[in-house]
Amino acid sequence: MGMKIIGLLGSPLVKGNTAKLLDQALRGAADAGCEVEKIVVPFLDFSPCMEIMYCKEHETCKMKDDMTPIYEKFRDVDSVIVATPVMTMGIPGKLKGFMDRFQVYFMAKFVRKQPLVAPEKKKHRRGLYIGISGMNLPYVFDGAKMTVQAFFQITDCKYWDELLIRDMDTIQDITMKPELIEMAYKKGYELGRLLFEENEAGTSAS
Ligand SMILES: Cc1cc2nc3c(=O)[nH]c(=O)nc-3n(C[C@H](O)[C@H](O)[C@H](O)COP(=O)(O)O)c2cc1C
Repeated sequence: MGMKIIGLLGSPLVKGNTAKLLDQALRGAADAGCEVEKIVVPFLDFSPCMEIMYCKEHETCKMKDDMTPIYEKFRDVDSVIVATPVMTMGIPGKLKGFMDRFQVYFMAKFVRKQPLVAPEKKKHRRGLYIGISGMNLPYVFDGAKMTVQAFFQITDCKYWDELLIRDMDTIQDITMKPELIEMAYKKGYELGRLLFEENEAGTSAS
């Protein structure tokens, strides 16, 4: 059985530090045998949730834009990686807008009690959070992490692991820290490897 992992990039810099970490994690997942797809969220064309609440009764959103095919992709995916810098002590606005539009999944799961994610997918779906921040503060990821956790819960991905790198204002270039690049690769590889291991053993996400 094929396994698919989607990586969401929250940074607009496609060659920036966050992108480098996500690319390594996706390379790891691909080396473990997964099909991988990167979505550069800042380049998508969509509006924020307008609270039309069409999704209260329907399996999709009334607003038709770049989010429309993404809802379908997320039904099918086997694990998700969110890679994002901290901005204004949270996640970047466009990525937050992307996550808010998953109200479609929220309504299905928590209001209609008819989740869009099939039980056999939910069993093994995991979420990996890769975060970087400019500042070196102990609580710098608190806001972002709460949002990422909520997104994973809404999309039926177990919050599996994280790689949080502070102090990028000092580090500047992540390639100066090869051990962190390696860590991103290993986490991506492990995320992918577990999917195949469990599929063979018939066990579930932990
Ligand atoms: C608009 C904006 C807001 C930011 N706000 C914060 C912040 O509140 N706290 C923090 O630690 N770093 C903040 N940063 C710094 C970024 O997290 C940091 O530069 C990160 O390394 C950027 O990653 P990238 O180059 O991959 O986009 C901000 C950066 C930008 C551009």
